[in-house]
Amino acid sequence: MSSVAPFKPAANFAKKAHINTQAEYQKLYESSINEPENFWAEMAEELHWFKKWDKVVEYDFRKGEIKWFIGGKLNVSYNCLDRHVLAGNGNKTALLWEGNDPAESKSYSYSELLSEVQKCANVLKSNGIKKGDRVCIYMQMIPELAIAMLACTRIGAVHSIVFGAFSSDSLRDRINDSACKMLITQDSGVRGVKQDIPMKVNADTAAAECPSIEKILTVRRTGLEVNMKSGRDIYWHEEMDAADAECPVEEMDAEDPLYILYTSGSTGKPKGVLHTTGGYLVYTSLTHKYVFDYHEGDIYWCTADIGWVTGHSYIVYGPLANRAITMMYEGVPNYPDYGRFWKIVEKHKVNILYTAPTAIRALMKEGTSWPEKYDLSSLQLLGTVGEPIKEADWTWYNEVIGKKRCPIVDTWWQTETGGILITPLPGVTATKPGSATIPFFGVLPVILDEQGNELEGAAQGYLAIKAAWPSLMRTVYGDHDRFIQTYFARFPGYYFTGDGARRDEDGYYWITGRVDDVLNISGHRIGTAEVEGAIGRTDGVAEAAVVGFPHDIKGQGIYAFVTMMTGVDADDTTITAIENTVRKLIGPHAKPDKIQFTPALPKTRSGKIMRRILRKIAEGNVDQLGDISTLADPGVVTNLVDQRQ
Ligand code: WT7
Repeated sequence: MSSVAPFKPAANFAKKAHINTQAEYQKLYESSINEPENFWAEMAEELHWFKKWDKVVEYDFRKGEIKWFIGGKLNVSYNCLDRHVLAGNGNKTALLWEGNDPAESKSYSYSELLSEVQKCANVLKSNGIKKGDRVCIYMQMIPELAIAMLACTRIGAVHSIVFGAFSSDSLRDRINDSACKMLITQDSGVRGVKQDIPMKVNADTAAAECPSIEKILTVRRTGLEVNMKSGRDIYWHEEMDAADAECPVEEMDAEDPLYILYTSGSTGKPKGVLHTTGGYLVYTSLTHKYVFDYHEGDIYWCTADIGWVTGHSYIVYGPLANRAITMMYEGVPNYPDYGRFWKIVEKHKVNILYTAPTAIRALMKEGTSWPEKYDLSSLQLLGTVGEPIKEADWTWYNEVIGKKRCPIVDTWWQTETGGILITPLPGVTATKPGSATIPFFGVLPVILDEQGNELEGAAQGYLAIKAAWPSLMRTVYGDHDRFIQTYFARFPGYYFTGDGARRDEDGYYWITGRVDDVLNISGHRIGTAEVEGAIGRTDGVAEAAVVGFPHDIKGQGIYAFVTMMTGVDADDTTITAIENTVRKLIGPHAKPDKIQFTPALPKTRSGKIMRRILRKIAEGNVDQLGDISTLADPGVVTNLVDQRQ
């Protein structure tokens, strides 16, 4: 619990905010909860619909059935581009792009972006992509990524973006899970000091085991020579040059799929989270407007990678639907040096900055001299997402970056929720460092106990949501039963988030972290089962158990307990081999930070690994192991404690 008094929004910020009185927030929130149909109908009117909906919402959590704006017809690309151009705003800036190299940047007006998107949509069409087909996008943060996404939405193709750091094996599995027909990639990528991330090579390796892939469309980013397989591989620039600049939009049903995005769960392979068209766009645009208090002309920069949901909702779809100026950055926070973020803020006069606690920690540890070198006076609002922010980090962000002028919005949400659910409204909500504060319009969070009882008032327990909101995922692609089992089975009638939370006496929510075996490494979600599976495939390894431990920069680090096969001794080469297997099977971001070899893992008599014990050891709380008497062999614990890394 924070010891400091809540931070009230500065008067001059509040004055110009869209929502700036508690009464106004209260009125809107209550109407969103008491009359959701009226509230959401009114909010949906902000978008362009070819046909209005017949009914606003229908849902049944027990069956995992969720429908919004039933019967409505719209198109995402039309809403994000054509609508603004037709209203005479074609020359306004849509996308600012900052390259990894500080000398490189680009900007696209709404007209320019529209024309690129239409050409790209024609490229997709002429290469056999039709409404409903899945297109996998495996790229770094270059403008063509956003263009490809919008082109898919224009013709009703469903994109599935795979984060550019994933290995070819991960890419292959994701392509195969949703049978993508096309793969869009780039020759190679530049990111920080890495000047040749082998994107096309990985794409080729993956595609060799992807029978559904008919075409690979490759953007030339670095000019690296790549293999082009005749009949399958095509170059972006050649196709775009030949493409017609006009492409009519497909009128999509509000519930037609928009995209699939894979995310890790506690068990099994990654789940293909499916988002649909109408509700998603209504919700992401509305939250973008109010949470970031977006006003016309504001320069908005979300530092996330589009390979994760934050980039989908709050670099591309929400901002563009609001005719915002949205920035996309190809590089990393510390390239060429630790001043890069602040240099970018100064160069582009960024007004709204949305980043992650892990980035704040990494920059904070380099001291205040970096931000002090640059003019940060353009900043008006700061945001964070991905994990709870610690008070010290919040204070640094507030004082050193925001100069105590900028409200901070700590936004809680998930890949599954599509948009921000718990957040301050910057013109109204007094913030408490470390708390995501209060629910957004239409969101009904509850705290449940072990038995599923709703707890009242100040309480701690499981965080669940009691009613549907428009951007909730609709299914796990290809496995609706898994959707129900994962999110609706444990607490029938609720959407279960997988997070624990505390609600304080002011009704503020404090996320305490995952209550399942999902790790949050630098804001990236990684399932322990996936890492264990990968380690287990290293030569000589018998078994592995993976838990998280507190890590200064990453928030959580990966701690792996590994047993070798009888007769096999682990040495330094084993560690390298494990790291390489994880890199190959998942990607470098899933590499364990610590590996402890152990003759045995702590198991119950039924053979279940007691992770609670491993977690305590990894955290260094060896005096809090609790009851170990149910272990088949309590003796293994002594060795585990002694050999702690
Ligand atoms: C998990 C979702 C959606 C954006 C990025 C992550 C954690 C997210 C916060 C926050 C505390 C947070 C939760 C959540 N999380 N935002 N503001 N405060 N925890 O998306 O990969 O789907 O991960 O990230 O544990 O369940 P994701």
